[in-house]
Amino acid sequence: MSILSGKNILLGITAGIAAYKTASLVRLFIKAGAHVKVIMTPASKDFITPLTLSTLSKNPVHSTFVSEEDENAVWNNHVELGLWADIFLIAPATANTLSKMANGTSDNLLLATYLSAKCPVYFAPAMDLDMYKHDSTKNSFKILKGFKNIMIPATSGELASGLVGEGRMAEPEDIITFIEKDILKKLPLNGKRFLITAGPTYEAIDPVRFIGNHSSGKMGFEIAKVAANQGAEVVLITGPTHQNLSHSFVEIIPVTSAEEMYVASHKHFNDVDVAILSAAVADYRPKQVAAKKIKKKDSTLTLELEKTKDILASLGDIKEKQLLIGFALETNNELENAKAKLNKKNLDLIVLNSLQDKGAGFGGTTNKVTIINKNGNINEYDLKSKTEVAKDLINEILNNINA
Ligand code: CTP
Repeated sequence: MSILSGKNILLGITAGIAAYKTASLVRLFIKAGAHVKVIMTPASKDFITPLTLSTLSKNPVHSTFVSEEDENAVWNNHVELGLWADIFLIAPATANTLSKMANGTSDNLLLATYLSAKCPVYFAPAMDLDMYKHDSTKNSFKILKGFKNIMIPATSGELASGLVGEGRMAEPEDIITFIEKDILKKLPLNGKRFLITAGPTYEAIDPVRFIGNHSSGKMGFEIAKVAANQGAEVVLITGPTHQNLSHSFVEIIPVTSAEEMYVASHKHFNDVDVAILSAAVADYRPKQVAAKKIKKKDSTLTLELEKTKDILASLGDIKEKQLLIGFALETNNELENAKAKLNKKNLDLIVLNSLQDKGAGFGGTTNKVTIINKNGNINEYDLKSKTEVAKDLINEILNNINA
């Protein structure tokens, strides 16, 4: 999944021959899962038709303040377009438009939207080589970079004039890669590796039966999603669940038993910066697993159980640089018990769920947590969706990483 998935991309097209390449650009954004709206300067319509772009973007194309096609003369709101966008890309960006942007001119819809936009602005210049080299153009680049606009440099090659040199708009694929990389490198968890455990474990009794629990895995999957969206590479080790997650930064390792989760967690722990153990691991498992299905005979059946390995405690024993986070589900003396667990298992943070809180714990879509760190700081959060709880936890982790 691309980091652009779900993002609102506003594409501003100005009057350069490279405008013909914006058809591919729109297609690539859509393929990456982004939503696209297009603004064209009036002169750019000589190079590519609005019909092509509205068809590909699945949205009407805007080029004037008042919609020409609509007999009721709907006003194209540049402020709304600017607010809608997560990213504003101006490609191709001509010397004329760049100069106007640098000087605050707003004599068309694209420029007025540029002045209103609050999101990151990228521009991909395209012009003939002498225009690209001109001091006035260089000055525009400098001013726009000073505005924190991001330049996607032109490349060298044959130009529309027949001359060869610098000034060709970057290719659509390269523009997309440039933006993706730029977004990623600015994410707070870029370069960090996470291990997350999620879901229940199933402990076999015989080939068809097991001891399990009601954990849905939702909390762990939400944490994995939030961490990955913030740039972390995540190894998600999960017991059997109905959750699914498709994200290019998340590697899912399915396991069944506590022993399998233990082995997988130890395999990856050395390579990670942060480990979050949210799985509801079985504390006990049948001592003997029957090789064949147990037949019903007597009126009672006794199973002898033995302790499983405590994955969290075993990672606490060997941890070096890693930040280690555990969960605690308590029914009484919650804070004391959670603090004791944090110390005993050598954790950096513990996330406490109290079964006395309505809407907390497993199964549901909400959770109410208190997060305690090893210095004794306690943050009590309101009842929230598990997505919001995951965001709070990741923020706490960021505070601890940066502390
Ligand atoms: N955990 C684990 N391996 C186990 C059992 C629990 O990694 N075999 C982890 C869970 O993923 C969670 C925390 O330990 O992060 C939960 O511990 P919990 O079950 O509440 O506490 P225990 O230490 O098992 O103590 P008790 O059940 O007595 O409260």
